[in-house]
Amino acid sequence: MNILIAGTGYVGLVTGSCFADLGVNVTCVDDDARTINLLLYGGLPIYEQGLEAMVKRNVDEGRLHFTTDFDTTLAEGDIDYVFCAVETPPLQDESTDLSSVLDIVHRFAKGIKKYTVLVMKSTVPVGTAEEIKHIIASDLKALGKDDVEFDVVTNPDFLTEGNAIKDFIKPDRIVVGVDSQRARDAMDRLYHPLHNINSVPVVVASNTTAEMIKYAATSMLATRVSFMNEIAKLCEIVGADVNIVRRGVGTDSRIGPKYIYPGCGYGGTLFPKDIKDLIKIGERNHYSMDVLKAVHAVNKRQKRILFEKLQRHYGGDLKGKTIAVWGLSFKPETNDIRKSPAITTIDLLIEAGCNVRVYDPVAMNQFKLRWSEIYCALNIYDAVDGADAVLLVTEWRQFRVPDWKRVKQVMRAPVVIDGRNIYDYHELEALGFNYYCIGR
Ligand SMILES: NC(=O)c1ccc[n+]([C@@H]2O[C@H](COP(=O)([O-])OP(=O)(O)OC[C@H]3O[C@@H](n4cnc5c(N)ncnc54)[C@H](O)[C@@H]3O)[C@@H](O)[C@H]2O)c1
Repeated sequence: MNILIAGTGYVGLVTGSCFADLGVNVTCVDDDARTINLLLYGGLPIYEQGLEAMVKRNVDEGRLHFTTDFDTTLAEGDIDYVFCAVETPPLQDESTDLSSVLDIVHRFAKGIKKYTVLVMKSTVPVGTAEEIKHIIASDLKALGKDDVEFDVVTNPDFLTEGNAIKDFIKPDRIVVGVDSQRARDAMDRLYHPLHNINSVPVVVASNTTAEMIKYAATSMLATRVSFMNEIAKLCEIVGADVNIVRRGVGTDSRIGPKYIYPGCGYGGTLFPKDIKDLIKIGERNHYSMDVLKAVHAVNKRQKRILFEKLQRHYGGDLKGKTIAVWGLSFKPETNDIRKSPAITTIDLLIEAGCNVRVYDPVAMNQFKLRWSEIYCALNIYDAVDGADAVLLVTEWRQFRVPDWKRVKQVMRAPVVIDGRNIYDYHELEALGFNYYCIGR
C-alpha cells in the first residue's frame, strides 16, 4: 500500500509518520522546500511528543520519504491513496482559502493513472468534497483520461496538538465520509489495523455529513470553553468561585469534566478557524449561527482578560512597567503560537508601553521569528527578573510548581496573574503575592 501525503505540517507529518509506523510506504510532500530539507536532514518543522523518534525510525527503515515533487511521486509512485493535508486558512472576508486544496485536486487529476482515492484531511466547508468530485471528473475528461477511476473521501482529523500520536493510534472514533461502496472498502483496508488492534469505532457517513461532523465537534468544544469563561466572569461579579463551580458541574455524568476549564481564551488554528468557517457556512445558506457568534465574541473578549486584570491592578497606566509572560504556545506540548492568547496579550502590553520578557519551554524559536525585539528569557526566573507582574498564559508542566520565594526575590513587584487557574491562591497570598486568576 502506497500513500502520498500532500502538506507536511501538523496533520500531514503526524498522519504520514503514523501510517509508516503501521508498515505502510508513505511519501510526504510539501511545497515548502525548507520544511522538506529540514526533514531530509533529520530535523522536524513542528514539536510533537514522540514524533522525532517515530520519523527517524521509519525513515531509517525505508518506509517514510520526503520530497517537494508531488507530480513525479504521483505519476511514478504506484500511489493508492493521496491525502490532502494542506492548510485552509481564512481569507480577508472570513471565507476559507481553498487555493492549496484546489492545487492538489488539479494535480491529483493530472497525475493519476489507475484507481486512486483522494482522502480529504484538510478541514473544508461543507459541500467541498462534492465540488472536488466534479472538478476531478471534468479535469480527467479534459485530459482524455475519463476512464481513470477515483473516489473522494472525507476523513476529518481530530488530532489535538501535543497529543497527536496518541490521537492517531487510539482515537475516540474514525469518521469516514464516502459516497460509494468502493470508497468504503478502500478506507476499511486503510484503517483495518487501528480498528483491529484498538477496536476503534468507525463512523461512516456521506462526504457532506462527515464534513459537518468535523465542524460540529470543534464548535461544541469551543462552546463549552466560552460558556465556562462566561460563567467565570459572572462568578467574579457575584463573588462565587468558578473552580468549585467547575468541579460541581463537571462531576455531572451528563456533562463530564473536559473542556470546561476557565482560562484566558482558546487559540491555535483549529477552534477560531472552524468556528468562523461554520458561521460563514450558515451565512451562505441564509442561516445565522447565533450560538457560535457568541462563542467567538466571548473568546475575543477573554483573550484580553490578563491585560485588563493587570491594568486594574495598576490603576490603568502600564507605561514603563516590565511584564513577564510565562508561556507562548496556545496550549502546552506544542510550539504552535498561532492565535495564542499570549500573542493578543503581548500586543496589548506593547501598545500600552510595557517592556515584555517572555519564556516558553519550546515555542521561543517560533516567537523570535515574529518578535525579534522582545526579550526571550533563559528560564522562568530570568523572565521575572525585575518584573512588575508575571502573567501565566500556557499551563506547561514546567510552570506548575515554581520556587515562589525565588520568584518574589527577583521581581520588582509581587503580582501574579494566572490565566489558567493552576496556582493555589492561599499559598501565593500567604507568601505576599497579589494573586489574580480567572473567575474568583
Ligand atoms: N493542526 C491541527 O490541530 C488540525 C487538526 C485537525 C484538522 N486540521 C486541518 O488540517 C489542515 C492542515 O492543518 P495543519 O495544522 O497541518 O497545517 P500546517 O500549516 O501545519 O501544514 C500545512 C502544510 O501544507 C503545505 N502546503 C500548502 N500548500 C501546498 C501545496 N500546494 N502542495 C504541497 N504542500 C502544500 C504547507 O507548506 C504546510 O507545510 C487544515 O485544513 C486544518 O484546518 C488541523
